[in-house]
Amino acid sequence: MAGSQFGKIFHISTFGESHGKALGVVVDGCPAGLSLSEEDIQEMLERRRPGKNLKMTQRKEGDKVEILSGIFDGKTTGTPIAMVVWNEDQRSKDYGGIAHAFRPGHADYGFFAKYGFRDYRGGGRSSGRETIARVAAGAIAKKMLLELGVSVRAKVIELAGISLTESREKAELLAEQKILSLREQGDSAGGVVECLVEGLPAGIGEPVFDKLDASLAKAVMSIGAVKSVEIGDGIEASKSLGSENNDAFFLKQEQGFDSFMGSLQKGSNHAGGILGGMSDGSTIRIRAGFKPTPSISKEQQTVNEAGEAITIAIKGRHDPTVVERANVVVEAMTALTVLDALLENLSARLDYVKKAYQK
Ligand SMILES: Cc1cc2nc3c(=O)[nH]c(=O)nc-3n(C[C@H](O)[C@H](O)[C@H](O)COP(=O)(O)O)c2cc1C
Repeated sequence: MAGSQFGKIFHISTFGESHGKALGVVVDGCPAGLSLSEEDIQEMLERRRPGKNLKMTQRKEGDKVEILSGIFDGKTTGTPIAMVVWNEDQRSKDYGGIAHAFRPGHADYGFFAKYGFRDYRGGGRSSGRETIARVAAGAIAKKMLLELGVSVRAKVIELAGISLTESREKAELLAEQKILSLREQGDSAGGVVECLVEGLPAGIGEPVFDKLDASLAKAVMSIGAVKSVEIGDGIEASKSLGSENNDAFFLKQEQGFDSFMGSLQKGSNHAGGILGGMSDGSTIRIRAGFKPTPSISKEQQTVNEAGEAITIAIKGRHDPTVVERANVVVEAMTALTVLDALLENLSARLDYVKKAYQK
């Protein structure tokens, strides 16, 4: 399927459907010499696995990754790394009732309109399970970034309209109660994930169409159910004044011009670490707004493939909110984008190229 590839240098190509044989990814362009094991990938996949708490779908998915190629003696060889997760828990019958109906809020109608027929089992390629491939590739990107002193970490900061930024424990409990009650009512809720990138040097990102913020927005918006992406203050910046929104620059200490690179600091970070499409050396701050899970068991009006108006109540095991499982997906997409931009930056200056090829 066109549209299943991402990244220029650290390039990924994903495949597989929710209820097909397997999901997987081929990572091409990973430099040789990175130590990598299935455990490194599995650790990150565990964070998106369903059934860990009552707010998550109770589907049991083993999601055990197998690395098929690209590793020798525990290290990447520079050749394509193919990874696969075999599908185990496929209850296609759960979807029988809605096989020919377009679920409101889901991708069914779009797929049908585009291709003329669709894989209705669990949403096929539009299922949340598609994100397994992104997370597996993201785990390699994160490991490589750590080698470069760059960390990427996402967390849920709002759930079902409840902010988790203050008194987190109490707020989490409130949000959990709200989501469980929504689940009882056959409904669902959304939320917000914030991702921080620390340790990225200044100057990463390619003006003008491949600005770092533009690439991050595309990467994160490509995750199912994401409806907004903000960098730094995001939409709030449009309400503030220039004097409030500009982040003042300071020198860490008095230094001459030649040595000031890397020692510039900002008094605030409204920009979210990106200016002119390039990193400014401060923390990159991205927020992703997720809509409520579309598949709900509450009765809804819709239309089927025969053009008949019908009422549906979606059975099957769905997340009352996708946000907690999607958290790690935001982290993965961010890591893939930042690593690709870092690798691309290697050819930005003659002296970088000379350094690599000096005799
Ligand atoms: C990790 C993850 C899990 C998801 N789980 C479900 C689910 O159980 N049921 C569902 O209807 N949608 C789920 N979704 C959302 C759908 O994939 C998404 O809403 C759908 O493809 C329509 O695309 P759109 O919302 O981006 O327009 C999940 C998304 C993610 C990222």
